[in-house]
Amino acid sequence: MTKFFVIVFCFLIPLTACQSNPDPEPINPLTLEGDPDLGRELVQMPLLGETPAPGCRNCHSIEEDAVLVGPSFLSMASSSETYLLEGIVDPDKTIAEGFVSGAMYPNYQEDLTAQEIAHIIAFIQSLEPQN
Ligand code: HEC
Repeated sequence: MTKFFVIVFCFLIPLTACQSNPDPEPINPLTLEGDPDLGRELVQMPLLGETPAPGCRNCHSIEEDAVLVGPSFLSMASSSETYLLEGIVDPDKTIAEGFVSGAMYPNYQEDLTAQEIAHIIAFIQSLEPQN
């Protein structure tokens, strides 16, 4: 009987070690709660992440409905979370009307954490005019 357990352990431990191994499932930012204030700080940084990636404000205006390289964040405020997420992590999939593909920095998926992306989405949506 002891032998049986020894055998089971010898096989099970390496197996579970393997499973907890590499690439953990990427976290979906839409499952996280975003803080608009932290999002505002993030989009105002000149550089983001460790690469570093260019900050959003180089291309997107924040306060006014002014167009820099890309549309202003204000003009996106009423877009759904799913749409904004796609616009950030896969910009060539959703092209803003009147803009061309390939113009937005494409690697935010790697350069930002899921939590940072959640903050940014919360910030953009918080710009929606309050009536
Ligand atoms: C190098 C310039 C540049 C930088 C930096 C940049 N963007 Fe963009 N972005 C664009 C351009 C140009 C478009 C319009 C073309 C498109 O939709 O891909 C765009 C589109 C978007 C859209 C989709 C808007 C829509 O209505 O379809 C979102 C959302 C967005 N950007 C968010 C961000 C965020 C958040 C950051 C910073 C983390 C960022 N962008 C950084 C240039 C940039």
